Amino acid sequence: MNGIYDKILESAKFLVAQTGIAPDVAMILGTGLGSLAERIDPIYLIPYEEIPHFCVSTVEGHKGKLIFGTFAGKQVVAMQGRFHYYEGYGLDQVTFPVRVLKELSARLLVVNSAAGGLDVSFKPGDVMIVTDHINMIASNPLRGLRDSRLGDRFPDMSRVYDPITIDVASQVIEEIGAPLRRGVYVAVSGPSMETPAETRMLRLLGADAVGMSSVPEIITAVQVGFRVLFLVVITNVNDPDNMAPISLSEVIQNANLAEPLLAEIMEKTLGRIQL
Ligand code: HPA
Repeated sequence: MNGIYDKILESAKFLVAQTGIAPDVAMILGTGLGSLAERIDPIYLIPYEEIPHFCVSTVEGHKGKLIFGTFAGKQVVAMQGRFHYYEGYGLDQVTFPVRVLKELSARLLVVNSAAGGLDVSFKPGDVMIVTDHINMIASNPLRGLRDSRLGDRFPDMSRVYDPITIDVASQVIEEIGAPLRRGVYVAVSGPSMETPAETRMLRLLGADAVGMSSVPEIITAVQVGFRVLFLVVITNVNDPDNMAPISLSEVIQNANLAEPLLAEIMEKTLGRIQL
């Protein structure tokens, strides 16, 4: 993307002019999890097509708008609808909104996504706190960027997920009485689902859950200096020795079923953390 820095400033300036809001927290809502947005007390809704340089989302189960409002006593801006590499967007397009959200002054990025469980003790509907990731999307969102105004060219990835926020979220899950799942998320390109052999490989590599999103946005988030909390809903469990077919409708249905639990975890966690 040519002149990306100027485009970020243009988008951010537009949003500041429209809303006058400097949110503390930015959120990216995942597949089947967009109704979390209904729990935000909205102040402004801004469709992506009105925002300079934003793309428009095409996939089923996604709506494209930014929601400015309050949630858990914090000023938030949420992306309802996101862009995926498998839709054909470049990673520069997928990650552009993250740069804009940071420019609006948000400090914590909360990301949600549906994922397939690779740890076969997981159950559909579980929420996993991501403690680390593996990027198996065959590219990197920072590839080709040399503008130091965007952040470090070689950002450190030794501590992507904020340990304090992970501790708070873990405590919240234990208090709720839901199973505490923490683990490694591996991002693949998709859109085909994994074969049994690929599933076995991903598990051997050390991943506990697999999905087709989020890691590009999170790599970018680290570059721009966000604290990151990544919560995934396990919508299906993939056992390579007994692989069941997976359908998008099943993924969306199970994500919808887990949404109240995810919302409760997010609300209590955000309510307790200091920014
Ligand atoms: N694989 C990849 N992405 C997914 C899955 C899966 O099994 N479930 C939800 N998103």
